[in-house]
Amino acid sequence: MAHQLLKGKKGIIFGALDENSIAWKTALKIKEEGGSFVLTNAPIAMRMGKINELAKACDAEIVPADATSEQDLQNLFTKAMEILGGKLDFVLHSIGMSPNIRKEKPYGDMNYDWYLKTIDISALSFHKVLQTAEKLDAMNEYGSFVALSYIAAQRSYPDYTDMAQAKAMLESIARSYGARYGRLKKVRVNTISQSPTKTTAGAGISGFDVFFDYAQLMSPLGNATAEDCANYITVMFSDFTKMVTMQNLMHDGGFSSTGITEDLIERLTK
Ligand SMILES: NC(=O)c1ccc[n+]([C@@H]2O[C@H](COP(=O)([O-])OP(=O)(O)OC[C@H]3O[C@@H](n4cnc5c(N)ncnc54)[C@H](O)[C@@H]3O)[C@@H](O)[C@H]2O)c1
Repeated sequence: MAHQLLKGKKGIIFGALDENSIAWKTALKIKEEGGSFVLTNAPIAMRMGKINELAKACDAEIVPADATSEQDLQNLFTKAMEILGGKLDFVLHSIGMSPNIRKEKPYGDMNYDWYLKTIDISALSFHKVLQTAEKLDAMNEYGSFVALSYIAAQRSYPDYTDMAQAKAMLESIARSYGARYGRLKKVRVNTISQSPTKTTAGAGISGFDVFFDYAQLMSPLGNATAEDCANYITVMFSDFTKMVTMQNLMHDGGFSSTGITEDLIERLTK
């Protein structure tokens, strides 16, 4: 049931690749809640993905941008304000990619050029997005930025390799830029740390099915789905969370506060 939580609000959504993407589900939810937006993704991903389908369903325009390119980001924010007719209220950064993970490099044999690429795409791009928005004075007061993180920022996970450092940096950027942007323009910056979710990025990590099942057993509410995440992001873009900033918000069915569950004890009891 829609509540028109985002009626009149305008924004940019990064990272909708296909119908499993968290950004895809979020776009549909924001549309349902009365918001309007420009969709964007890296030019190469747009050729492989299905973003045109989503744009049609949401009556949204697409402006391609590689999130690591300052020039692309300037063009994106400028065009988004033109298309939507004014300053913006929300930006979703739903971007992650590690060439080392893609090529299944173990943590003791990292390719450092790829490592830097992981950091650039998955973390530094968030700073670039924020800095571009600030320089173009693109946000309304109490505008809200959300980027998506994972608990590997705080805990070790085999096979998450250099993405763990990228997520730790992403969360740190949200705190540091949130302090600056809040004081300057009353703009909010947060990360949401999401449960393992079956998407292209998620399934690319080896052993994903096992840690998906483990997290399911270790979360009193079970794993949060992409749809649940879309709902939470929508609330974070609404005026009901106006005073929330500089936070890493756990969205994980209770996983991060759990020592062990009865479900896991049962599973491990011989
Ligand atoms: N799936 C999970 O288990 C999970 C859990 C926690 C957090 N996350 C995070 O959620 C976010 C979204 O991932 P998803 O799971 O929806 O997967 P996804 O693969 O659908 O989305 C990742 C997106 O990043 C985009 N991207 C990659 N390089 C880019 C670039 N240079 N410029 C612009 N866009 C670029 C891709 O095109 C894709 O659309 C990521 O930050 C991911 O790390 C995912």
